[in-house]
Amino acid sequence: MNDQGSISNLLNEDRHFAPDPAFTVQAVAQPGIYEEAQADRLAFWAKQAKELHWHKPFNHVLDWNDAPFARWFYDGQLNVAFNCLDRHVIEGRGDRVAIHFEGEPGDTRSYTYSQLTSEVKKAANVLASLGIGQGDRVAIYLPMIPEAAIAMLAVARLGAVHSVVFGGFSAEALHTRIEDAEAKLVITADGGFRRGAASALKPAVDEALAGGKCPSVTNVLVVQRTGQETAWNPELDLWWHDEMAKASQEHEAQGFDAENPLFILYTSGTTGKPKGILHTSGGYLTQVAYTHKNVFDLHADTDVYWCTADVGWITGHSYVVYGPLANGATQVIYEGTPDSPHAGRWWEIIEKYGVSIFYTAPTAIRSFMKQGREIPDKFNLKSLRVLGSVGEPINPEAWMWYRDVIGGGKCPIVDTWWQTETGAIMISPLPGLTTLTPGSAQLALPGINMAVVNDDGRELENGHGGYLVITEPWPSMLRGIWRNPDRYKEGYWSRFPSRYFAGDGAKLDHEGNLWVLGRVDDVLNVSGHRLSTAEIESALVSHEWVAEAAVVGATDELTGQSPVAFVILRTDQIEAAGDDKNINTVLRNWVAKEIGPIAKPRQIMVVPELPKTRSGKIMRRLLRDVAEQREVGDTTTLADVGVMSLITSKLATGASD
Ligand code: WT7
Repeated sequence: MNDQGSISNLLNEDRHFAPDPAFTVQAVAQPGIYEEAQADRLAFWAKQAKELHWHKPFNHVLDWNDAPFARWFYDGQLNVAFNCLDRHVIEGRGDRVAIHFEGEPGDTRSYTYSQLTSEVKKAANVLASLGIGQGDRVAIYLPMIPEAAIAMLAVARLGAVHSVVFGGFSAEALHTRIEDAEAKLVITADGGFRRGAASALKPAVDEALAGGKCPSVTNVLVVQRTGQETAWNPELDLWWHDEMAKASQEHEAQGFDAENPLFILYTSGTTGKPKGILHTSGGYLTQVAYTHKNVFDLHADTDVYWCTADVGWITGHSYVVYGPLANGATQVIYEGTPDSPHAGRWWEIIEKYGVSIFYTAPTAIRSFMKQGREIPDKFNLKSLRVLGSVGEPINPEAWMWYRDVIGGGKCPIVDTWWQTETGAIMISPLPGLTTLTPGSAQLALPGINMAVVNDDGRELENGHGGYLVITEPWPSMLRGIWRNPDRYKEGYWSRFPSRYFAGDGAKLDHEGNLWVLGRVDDVLNVSGHRLSTAEIESALVSHEWVAEAAVVGATDELTGQSPVAFVILRTDQIEAAGDDKNINTVLRNWVAKEIGPIAKPRQIMVVPELPKTRSGKIMRRLLRDVAEQREVGDTTTLADVGVMSLITSKLATGASD
C-alpha cells in the first residue's frame, strides 16, 4: 500500500470545520437521516426510489438471492429519460434552464427543460428510424457538447444501452469497445474544440470501423461541431442535423423494467482488457438522484451547478447527465480545457453563470494552486456555496486552498469517494451536517454500509488501516461485467467472500472518519482516471521493438500518479530503435495511439532485465522505487539479486513533453 508514512501524518490532522448554522437550517440533508437509514435500510431506499416517476410502481425493493447479482425495485417499470425530462415539463418546470453550454471558442447555447425534452424526443425518433430499440447498444464518441447528453438520453428513452467512449481515446480503444459491446450505431462528431483548435474525431471512427472490422455497426451518425473537412462513407454515415430536421417532435416514453440495462462503461482492471461495467435503470437513477441532491445540497430552483467531468467517464454519466437532470437542476457544460484561451477560463465561467455548486478533481485544483491565487482572485466567485472533489484522494493542502481561495473560506467541501462500478457516490460528508476534516472523505452515506478489513477479512476498529469493502448491496451497484459474469465474481467478490472489494486501501481515524489511501492493485490513477498497468504493458509489447515491459505508477505532484515504463528491447531491434531519446518519443507516441494520450508514460526506461520473483512475478515495488528515485527496497525475494544494480546503473534519460 502506498503512502503509509504520509497517511499517518494525515491521521493527525486536527483542523475541523463545523457546519455553519445558517447553512444547516436550509440544508437538504436533515439531521436524523443516518439513523433513519440505519433503522430500515431497504425502506430508506424505497423512499428515495419513490421520488422518481414510475410507469408501474414497484412492490419489491431488493432481490439478493442470486448474489452478487442484485435486482433492485425489480417489479417496477420506469423510463429514465422521462424522469430526466418530460416529468419536469409536465410538473411546470419547462421554462427552467437545464443546460447552459459554453463552447471553448466562446459560442453559447442554453436549453430549457422543454427544449431539451423536444431535442431528445427528436433524437429518439431518429435512432428508432435507424433500427435502434430496447437492448441494442449504441456507441457514443463525442466531445463535451449538449448533443452528448441528448444522445445518451435518446438511447435511454428507447430502452437501448449506451456505451460512451471518451473522446480522448484512440481509434484502437474505440474499436475494442465497439466490438465487445457489438454496437449497432456509433454517434460521433466531425470534431471538437480543444486548446484553441478544432480537433478531429470522425477519422478515429473511420479507422475503428475500417475494412469491416466492426460488422455490428450499421450506421454512423455525425454531429457537425467544428465544420472541418470530414471523410464520408455514404454507406454508413449520416449527418445528425439532417436526420434531426426530418424527425418528429412527438415521442411517447414507454416504461421499461427497473433492471433494463441503461449503459455499459468500459474501465481498466488489473488485466490488459478493459471491462464493460454494466449499469441498469431504477436503482442507478435512484442513487444518483438522491446523492446529487443530498451531497451537493441542491436547491434546484435557485442553484447553478457545474461538474467539470467529461461524459466519457462515470462522473459525467452520473453527475452531468442523470443525477442533475433527474433533479431538475440548472447546470453548466463546458467543452474545452481550463486554460483556453486564458488561465482563468473556469473562474470566468463561474462568474458569468453565477455557479453555486462546483464539482471537480484534485488534479485540477493542484494545477491551479501551482499557478497561484492571482488568477482566480481576478474573478467574482461569491456565488459559490458548495464545492466538491472526486477521482483521487485530495491532499489537505489542496483542500485548504480550494476552501480558502475558491470557496472564500465559507463553502463546505464534499470529498466524494466512489467508482465506475459503484455508479454513484458512496462516501462523502453531507454539507450542513458533517464537521469537515481536510483530506478525509469521511463517512459512508446513509443507506450505504462499508468497512475497513484486514487481510483475513476481519473488520478493523478506529485508528487502523486495511482494505475498503462494501458490506451490503446498494441500488446503483454494477450488475456485472458485460458478458463476463465470472470476471465480475472473481474480480470483486472473491477476495473477501460476501463483500465487495473496491481495490482501495483505507484507514479509519480515531473519530471513525475514512481516509482512502489509493489503489492496492495494479491500477493507476492518473488525474482521476483509471488505467491499468497491464493495459499499457500490452500496448508496449505490441510494438515491434519491445520484448518485455513493466509499467508502474509513480507519484506525480500534479496528476496524482503517472505511468513510468521499463522495457526490454528485442535484441534484433536494438539498432533500429536508436538512442533512449528516440525510444522515448516513439514508444510514448505508440501508447498514445494504442490507448490515448492520457496513458502516455511519463518516461520509458530501457533496461536489460526486469526484477522478478522466483515464480516469475514482476516486483513492481522495486521498479516504483526506481521510478520515484528512492533507494531500492528489500530485494531478497528476487530470483536474480543482481538485476536491480544492473537497472539502477543504467541511468535512464527523461522525457520532456
Ligand atoms: C477509483 C475509481 C468516481 C469517479 C471518478 C473515478 C479513486 C475516486 C476518490 C476520493 C480517494 C478516490 C479510488 C477509486 N477515487 N474518488 N474521493 N478519494 N480516492 O472513477 O475511474 O472508476 O476510479 O478512483 O481509487 O477506486 P474510477
